[in-house]
Amino acid sequence: MKEKLYQVWRALIWTFDPADRGEAGKAITRNFWLHWFPPRMTKRSLSWGYSLWLGTISAVLFFILTITGIILMFLYVPSVERAYQSIKDLEYAVSFGWFLRNMHRWAAHMMVASVFLHMVRVFYTGAYKNGISHMAKRQINWVVGMILLGVTLLLSFSGYLLPWDQLAIWAVTVGTQIARSVPILGDDIYYVLAGGTRLDQNALIRFYTLHVIFLPALLLVLFSYHMWRIRKDEGLASVEQEKIARKSGKPVQPEMVFSTPWAVRRIILVSLGTFVWVLFLTVFLESPLEEPASLEWTPNPAKAPWYFLWLQELVAITTIRIGGFTLNGGFIGGVLIPAILGGAATIWAFIDKSPPEATGVWFHRSRLVQNLVFTFFALLIVGMIIFAMYFRGPYWGVYWPWAWPELPEII
Ligand code: HEM
Repeated sequence: MKEKLYQVWRALIWTFDPADRGEAGKAITRNFWLHWFPPRMTKRSLSWGYSLWLGTISAVLFFILTITGIILMFLYVPSVERAYQSIKDLEYAVSFGWFLRNMHRWAAHMMVASVFLHMVRVFYTGAYKNGISHMAKRQINWVVGMILLGVTLLLSFSGYLLPWDQLAIWAVTVGTQIARSVPILGDDIYYVLAGGTRLDQNALIRFYTLHVIFLPALLLVLFSYHMWRIRKDEGLASVEQEKIARKSGKPVQPEMVFSTPWAVRRIILVSLGTFVWVLFLTVFLESPLEEPASLEWTPNPAKAPWYFLWLQELVAITTIRIGGFTLNGGFIGGVLIPAILGGAATIWAFIDKSPPEATGVWFHRSRLVQNLVFTFFALLIVGMIIFAMYFRGPYWGVYWPWAWPELPEII
C-alpha cells in the first residue's frame, strides 16, 4: 500500500527517473526552469558594483506588478460608466484597496525608471560586446532589451488610461495625438489604438486588454528569452575580463562561487530591498485621482505621463510659427527624432568597435567619446522631462514652478 501510494505520488510530481548522476545532470542542464543559473559563477559577475542588480530589480518590480495587478482585476471594471467608481471604491471602500492601488502604481513608475537605468548601466559597461568569446552574441540581448524597454513603456502607458479620470484621459490624449501625427498612416494608427475617432469605451477596452493580457505576456516571453540568452552568452559580460587576463598569460584564477547560495542569497536580498522600497512609497505617497474623465473639459496644460514628457517637449520645440503659418512638430518631434534616437541606440551594439578589453568594464577609456555622446542624449531626455514637468504651465508657456499665472486649472 505504502509502495503504491509512493508510486502515485511520483507519478504526480515527477515522471522521469534518471538512471545515474550523469543523466540526472543532463536533464537539469537542458531544462530552462531547473537551470536558470549555471552551478558556479564568477564572483565578479555577482558583485554589487558591476550590474548594480538593476535587471533583477526590474524583474522583481514586474513580479510585484503581476501579483497586485491580478488582485486588482477582481476589483476594477473596464467600462466608462464604472471604471472611475471602481478606483474610487479602491480608495475609500475596499479594505486595503488604497494599498493595492498605490503599490501597483509606484511599482510601475519604479519599473520604468529601473529598466531605463539598467539600459544605461549596460551601455556604460559595454555589456553588449562579446569580448574574446566566439560563442557569445550579446548584441542580441541588447536588441531584446530595447524591445523590453518599449514594452515596459507601453505597459505603463496603457495602464494610465484605466482610472478614467481627467489625468488619465488627457495624458493619453496627448500621447495618442502624437502617434496620430505620423504622415499618411497617422489616422489609421489612432483608429487602431482608440478603436474610433475619440477616446471612449472602445479605447478603454483596448487599453485594458493590452494592459492585462497582451503586453504582460509579451514581456514575460521576452524576459525569459533575455535570461536564457545570458546563459547562452556564457554569463554576464564581466566574465570576459577573466578570459582576457588568462589569454594574455597573466596568472589569474577567476574566483568562482556556487550559485546556491551565492546568487540565490543576493537575489533574495535585492528582492527584499526592492519590496521594502516600494512598500515605503506605497505607504507614504498617495496616488492621484482627479475628476471623472471628460473630453469637454480640457486641463491647461494637459501633460503626457512623465516618461513621455520629453516627447511632448520635443513637439513644442519643433513646432514653428511664422506669421499666421504653423508647422506642427507632432511628427518631427514626437515621432521622427525619437525613432532616429531609438533606432540608433538599437543598432549601436553592432556599430561599437571598441576593443575586447572594453567588454564588461565601467567607463573603459576606449569608449570615452561614445560614453560622452550617450550621456549627452540621456541627460537631454531627463532634462526635458524635468523641464516639462516643473517649468511648463498654461498654454505650455515657461514659468517658474512657484509662479504660475492665475488661471482656472480647467478651461
Ligand atoms: C523588463 C525589462 C528588463 C529586465 C527585467 C531585464 C533583466 C535583466 C537581468 C536580470 C539581467 C542580469 C544582470 C542584471 O541584473 O543587471 C540582465 C542583463 C542584461 N540586460 Fe536586461 N532586462 C531588461 C531590459 C533591458 C534593456 C532595456 C536592455 C538594453 C537595451 C537590456 C540589456 C541587457 C544586457 C545586454 C544584459 C547582459 C548584461 C551583462 O552581460 O553584463 N535589458 N537583464
